[in-house]
Amino acid sequence: MTEALAAIHAEAFETPWDAASLSALLASPGVFVVADADGFILIRVVADEAEILTLAVRPSARRGGLGARLVEAAVVRAAALGADRMFLEVAEDNVAARALYARAGFHEAGRRRGYYARANGRREDALVLALNFPRPLP
Ligand SMILES: CC(C)(COP(=O)(O)OP(=O)(O)OC[C@H]1O[C@@H](n2cnc3c(N)ncnc32)[C@H](O)[C@@H]1OP(=O)(O)O)[C@@H](O)C(=O)NCCC(=O)NCCS
Repeated sequence: MTEALAAIHAEAFETPWDAASLSALLASPGVFVVADADGFILIRVVADEAEILTLAVRPSARRGGLGARLVEAAVVRAAALGADRMFLEVAEDNVAARALYARAGFHEAGRRRGYYARANGRREDALVLALNFPRPLP
């Protein structure tokens, strides 16, 4: 299964994660995956906080709503595991992901300067985005 995830990751990112790293992550506490044939999301839940470790959709399957559905499914599952908010880091120049997260209700909660190193040597800031889960009515 992690081979399939690694293949998707390699299509989606400049610096892919191999199957061994994905297996190690999946074996660590609080980590779960929601996967589809064309994309997946990896989440870590620690106490009441969830973090999106990665989200990837194959280029051939984009703009069909899969990325948004994966985020939605991850929120439902993280909430069931006790989280009440979710965080992630996204490169400031990642227009597609930023638009997806904005539509999903995430807001900007911080910035990490020069967080991502690009192949051309340039550094890009990461934005920290957060989503507070709606509280169930008492
Ligand atoms: C970001 C990513 C996961 C989006 O996956 P997707 O399946 O194409 O996303 P969706 O079809 O669910 O898009 C949901 C909304 O996000 C926004 N969006 C998605 N891609 C966009 C793009 N290229 N440009 C502008 N807005 C975009 C749109 O508002 C879209 O809704 P719409 O299609 O109804 O307009 C995908 O582009 C990807 O794998 N990118 C490379 C890896 C990456 O950057 N991951 C996130 C790291 S934090």
